[in-house]
Order: sequence, then C-alpha cells, then structure tokens
Amino acid sequence: MRNFQPCQKPQSCALVIFGVTGDLTKRLVIPSLYNLAAAELLPERFCVVGVARCGILNEALRESLMKGLHQFATRPVEDKVANRLLECITSVEADPDDGPSFDRLKEQLERLESARDTGGNRLFYLATPPDVFAPIVRQLGRLGLLKEDHGAWRRLVIEKPFGTDLASARALNAELLNILNEHQIYRIDHYLGKETVQNILVLRFANGMFEPIWNRHHIDHVQIIVDEQLGVGHRGSFYDATGALRDMVPNHLFQLLSLIAMEPPRHFDAHNVRSEKDGVLAAIQTQSEEEALKNSVRGQYTAGKIGDTEIPDYRKTPGVRPDSATETYVAMKLNIDNWRWAGVPFYLRTGKALAMKHTEVAIKFRETPFAMFRCTPVEQLAENYLVICVEPTEGITLQFNTKVPGPVIRIDGVQMKFLYKDYFKSEPATGYETLIYDCMIGDNILFQRADGVEAGWRAVQPFLDAWKRVGSKGLEFYPAGSEGPPGAFELLKRDGRSWRKL
Ligand code: BG6
Repeated sequence: MRNFQPCQKPQSCALVIFGVTGDLTKRLVIPSLYNLAAAELLPERFCVVGVARCGILNEALRESLMKGLHQFATRPVEDKVANRLLECITSVEADPDDGPSFDRLKEQLERLESARDTGGNRLFYLATPPDVFAPIVRQLGRLGLLKEDHGAWRRLVIEKPFGTDLASARALNAELLNILNEHQIYRIDHYLGKETVQNILVLRFANGMFEPIWNRHHIDHVQIIVDEQLGVGHRGSFYDATGALRDMVPNHLFQLLSLIAMEPPRHFDAHNVRSEKDGVLAAIQTQSEEEALKNSVRGQYTAGKIGDTEIPDYRKTPGVRPDSATETYVAMKLNIDNWRWAGVPFYLRTGKALAMKHTEVAIKFRETPFAMFRCTPVEQLAENYLVICVEPTEGITLQFNTKVPGPVIRIDGVQMKFLYKDYFKSEPATGYETLIYDCMIGDNILFQRADGVEAGWRAVQPFLDAWKRVGSKGLEFYPAGSEGPPGAFELLKRDGRSWRKL
C-alpha cells in the first residue's frame, strides 16, 4: 500500500456500492475501506449506501460484511475501526429493471447525505456483473444523480470486464459518455493498484540510466508472463464465456505492456500519462487473422495435480461446456509499430492451473556483438535480462555475466537483486486502497481512459476473430500443474528465443 502518511483526507462524500452483497465487495472493497479507515484516510463526513437487488436489513448486511472482513482483511481487525466503518453503511434495495426502486434510492441517498452532511459529492461503485453496468448508469442518468452541480463532484467506478470485444467496449463507452464526462469515469484495472506495476514508471522515468538503452538498439525482446496456479474453480460459466485472452490480455497484460513501452510523459498527470500509455496500445501492429493464428497459441488444461491438490479437467468444471474450446492459456507475439520498438517482439503469456504463480516482465538485452573471450562463445554467455517481478517476490533483478574467480577466464551469469521487502516495510494491502482513495481525491492516473480500453480490444480483436473462425482447431492441451502447452515454447523457439526459466 502506498505510504499514505503525507496524504490528505478526501473531501466528504457518499459512496454508493452496487452489488454490496457480492463477492467483490466482501473480498476487496470492504477490506480496502477498512485499511483506509485504519490509516484515517476516509473522509471526515462519509456514508456508504449498499445497494442490492434483493432487500437486506441494515443489521444483516453489516453482520455479513463484518464476517467477510474477518475472513478477507489483510491485517488483524480492530473492532473499533470496523464498527465505525460499518455504522456508516445503510442497505438499500434497487433493481435497474425497476425504475421506481431507483426513485426510492435517490430519496434515501439524499436523506443520508443531508443527515451526514456529505456535501453532495458522490462516488458510485459498480461492483456488479457487467450486464447491469449500462442499465444502472441509465437509471442514475435519468434521475440526474451523475450531474455535477453546485461544486459537488459525481464519479463512477466501473469494474472489469469492460466489454467482451471491440464493438461491445465501444458501445459501453458510448453509453457512459452519453451521461458522464470522461473525467468522471474510473475504469478499474486492479493491476494498476500493485506497487511494482506503479513502480515501472518510477524505474523508467526517475532514473537516467535506463532510458538511453530502452529501445530497439539495445533491447532484443520483451516477455510479459502472468502464470497462475489456480484453476477456474467456481467461476466456470463466467470463464467459459470469457477465456484467458479476454480475461487477462487487453486489460492486465496490456497495462504492463503500456507502462514498459510508453514514451516519457511530459508531466505526471492523468492526461499526459494516459495519452502516452494509450498511444503505445494504439501502435500495436494490427495482425491479419492468418498472422494472428501464426502468432498465438491457445491451451486448455486437463486434469492434473498442483502440490497435493487434484485439479479436475477444465471441461469437467461446473458451468463449463463438455466440448468447450475456450482457452485457459494463451501465448502471443505482438509488434509495436513505432521508432522505439520496431523489430522488437513482445511475447505475452498467461494461463491457469500452471506449475507456479508468477508475474513478471523480462527485458532481454541484445547479445554482445562478438566473442572476445576465446573459451566462451557469445551464445554461451548468460543472457542479459532486467526482470521486474510483480509476484510472488516483488523486486527487480539484473542478470549479467561475471568472471568466475580463478587463474583462467571463466564466465558465469549472476544476478543483482533488489527486493522490496529488504528496503521497505509496508502493511499488507489488497491493492484496491490506492485505487479507491484516488477515486475519492479525483486522481485518475491509475484508471483506464475510453481510448485506451478500445485500443486494447482493437489489438486483440484479430485473435478473437481468427479463433472463432477455426473453433477448437489448434487448441492444445496441457496437464494442470505443468508449464503450459508445448506450442507456447515453439512460438519463441521459431524466432531463436526462449521464455526465461522461472
Ligand atoms: C482477474 C481475473 O481480473 O485477475 C482472474 O478475472 C485472475 O481470472 C486475476 O485470476 C489475476 O489477478 P492477480 O492479481 O492474482 O494476478
């Protein structure tokens, strides 16, 4: 969690959470609000309106959120802090298919705002399934609840998935922008709440030594790896309609890619940072369907074991079609069409039920131009990598060659490691604290803008189209607990490269 010590408390406001009885609220939103409360970073005058489709009494809601908090809090729960937070929460029943229920929501919200003297500032948080994003916004728009007036701000937080392809993302953006201005919309990608992800900007732009070599003259290629150990679990029906690409690539992996590949922004503000990030996504080379097939690998896991846990065959997961062609693993090669990156491939991979949980970006530098050391040909030297590890061990590693002590020149690869935990003490956090705090103070640097979301979908659309056309043809299978499908390793081998060994 960001070191909040010098931070200001946000202005007074009402937080309206749609989907208050759902998983996301219980696992992430309430534990994050708790951490903010413990750090005294919630507004002085504050209220939370918890909206659910089926009515729930205040006491029952608070009790269930308290239970969830004890289960998911990232630190020991202090009753005093938790009670103070939960006392701010009022339950309201509203269903976007039922207009009058939203009229009642408006009345209750206004009553609470005046009782708590929150000054009219409102943060609407859509922690709901995506099919109700637009209907909720339409109802809020109809009642004028999103209109900024009398100096009060009105903001909307929207979770992923933001659309399921380019057309649906465009349609959702159009719906939102019909009612709200872009500056009022906070499209969350939880990867941007991670310290090491935010640190990519600092690594690149607060140090003079990396930028001169951060280009095609010195970098051979970039690997973005997001391996997951968990299988699909209880999310079968959502996942089977989604797949690894939609679930992870245009959002989380592209956030990593854009931070690594963007041009230096003129200022550290939302407009400049997001323009540079979105610019690089827009420069991802558009592939034809044939190229997309050649430059991608899809895998699906079969039964296997991870540690002591038996993972069932993906197709036997509840909610998954028995003949499903949905990918649980994707590897792909992308190119960026600009002066900095032309000819530098970006290899991306992500998958479920793999041998280990590991997220990193590895920058592979070019080889030395010739073999000066007679006994060690260039190709036997250790590869030069700068590795940004996001999980499990947050840190940065530089891999280079060094002389092995002794009378003759022998060379071996070594690693210089910076680990966060060696330098900084931080409270365990959910990663959402920073994001929710930023919504309250009106800083949208860490949120996606409409054009960025659309550029991401545009880059993956040829892959979606090509896979839809060929169905299960080309889908590879890999046992749970393995390193993934062999094709993913072939994809790099074909170019004379290989994935970094984890
Ligand atoms: C979510 C995906 O957005 O990110 C999940 O829907 C995935 O399928 C998760 O497991 C990964 O997040 P993290 O922070 O564990 O890498």
